[in-house]
Amino acid sequence: MRAKIVAGNWKMNKTLEEGLSLASEVVNMVADEVSGDVKVVLCTPSIYLHAVSKLVSGKVSVGAQNAYEKESGAYTGEVSPAMLATVGVKYVILGHSERREYFHETNAQLATRTDLVLKQGQTPIFCCGETLAQREKGIHLDFVKQQLTESLFHLSNEQITKVVIAYEPIWAIGTGVTASNDQAQEMHALLRAHLASKYGQSIADSISILYGGSCKPDNAQGLFACKDIDGGLIGGASLKARDFVDVIKSF
Ligand code: PGA
Repeated sequence: MRAKIVAGNWKMNKTLEEGLSLASEVVNMVADEVSGDVKVVLCTPSIYLHAVSKLVSGKVSVGAQNAYEKESGAYTGEVSPAMLATVGVKYVILGHSERREYFHETNAQLATRTDLVLKQGQTPIFCCGETLAQREKGIHLDFVKQQLTESLFHLSNEQITKVVIAYEPIWAIGTGVTASNDQAQEMHALLRAHLASKYGQSIADSISILYGGSCKPDNAQGLFACKDIDGGLIGGASLKARDFVDVIKSF
């Protein structure tokens, strides 16, 4: 049985006060309304992680949106996985397409970051996904496979089982255009087959693969019902407690 996970990626949104009230609302609504064993993650801006980590409980944990590939030192403005661990962070998003595009993060850097996050006992949420141009050229499957190969395939069998993967087609992020259930399932199945080619089927079957990209209450049910989709990485719809909890309840 794979873990079911819904992670909210707040990106660079909310004041501290707004963030704390959103987090409290989510924690309360999840406690009241969500049965079943689903894990909920709030990936807040890093400056709020400490405060939010003190008010989460039950099924809800906190996650960072990024972490640097060094443990400490002269890297002005950066935050390491070891530092995140000291403020209660349990999950770390790595390689979000916005980080890859605007901050030029490479597959090699993300490989190192994955190692450091695992070393802290945190769960990396490793993001992959293609642009619309790549999909139109028909190279999307190979492109996404390569992202996994170059950033994750150095991991041992034991390490890879601790990674969560998020497939986020770039053309669906924040655009209101969602991948169809078939498009998402096709890619998730392909990613799982790719993991199986390296680690074997039973390990591949144990890894949660989340879908992200305009996932919201009115389409989450169809996506989460797909065989290889184990939850979601939710941007816009994670900024309102009601919408986010409705997504969580879509399993
Ligand atoms: P979106 O963002 O749900 O607003 O499309 C998803 C993400 O970027 O993780």
